[in-house]
Amino acid sequence: MKITVVGAGAVGATCTDNIARKELAEEIILLDIKEGLAEGKSIDMMQTAALLGFDTKIKGVTNDYAATADSEVVVITSGLPRKPGMTREELIGTNANIVRTVTENILKYSPNTIIIVVSNPMDTMNYLTLTTSGLPKNRVLGMGGALDSARFKFYLSQQLGCSPSDLNAVVIGGHGDTTMIPLIKHATWNSIPVSQFLSQEQQDKVVADTMVGGATLTKLIGTSAWYAPGAGTAAMVESIVRDEKKLISTGVALDGEYGQKDISLVVPVIIGKSGWEKIIDFKLSEAEQAAFNKSADAVRNMNDVLKTL
Ligand code: 2OP
Repeated sequence: MKITVVGAGAVGATCTDNIARKELAEEIILLDIKEGLAEGKSIDMMQTAALLGFDTKIKGVTNDYAATADSEVVVITSGLPRKPGMTREELIGTNANIVRTVTENILKYSPNTIIIVVSNPMDTMNYLTLTTSGLPKNRVLGMGGALDSARFKFYLSQQLGCSPSDLNAVVIGGHGDTTMIPLIKHATWNSIPVSQFLSQEQQDKVVADTMVGGATLTKLIGTSAWYAPGAGTAAMVESIVRDEKKLISTGVALDGEYGQKDISLVVPVIIGKSGWEKIIDFKLSEAEQAAFNKSADAVRNMNDVLKTL
């Protein structure tokens, strides 16, 4: 198994670190446009191998796409991260060109790969990759829901005073501060609805905190987060590589599911060796469906911006 991670910034490097520690591949190529960055971070990570006991080889390269040839999975993290006060959507102009170029270069050497798009604004970058790559739709996955669902579980665990891994909770919609929909009515603590334990006010706070989870960190750190985005991406890679069939909220092309078409939005899907294998299309309440449609409108407006670039 060979995996490429494009972008050796904080998210790309953390994702690579997670993949190596889990030994999900024999080889990871970490590629960056900045001379020496990927090489340096790769050597640094390889120097943890003796301490952590992993055998994955990590190789850093500067813009050398030939080195990525025959990658089975490619993670695209390239592009600018947001600064405090910025929305993910404000990154579209710069990041669209970067993601388009990266995708073209990747496909020259790995024409049948599975691509996970992490770059923001994720829903639109994933749509761009879907529409320009020519890959079958199940081989293009947007990372956002895995992260947002993990943040949702974190905030729930804080209110409940419980372990985040005892929770079941998913976020759908878009990966944006106003477009993501944490499905609190469906969230359970080991199968018991969280509404049994939390007041409406507490539930509303969890939802609001989750929606601005990324912005809160950007304000604190001065740039966007990387530990949870890196781990969220690695969880998706793991489900592909080990054919785990995990149910993970993921940005995928919708073709009538949840009442939407010609758009990439975050919904629960099964992830296995061929990418996303099945959309879990369940009936939303009227309010949830209305929120989903509103997110779709916002994401569609953003996708329309692509035509003007
Ligand atoms: C975040 O929410 C990077 O979009 C990512 O932190």
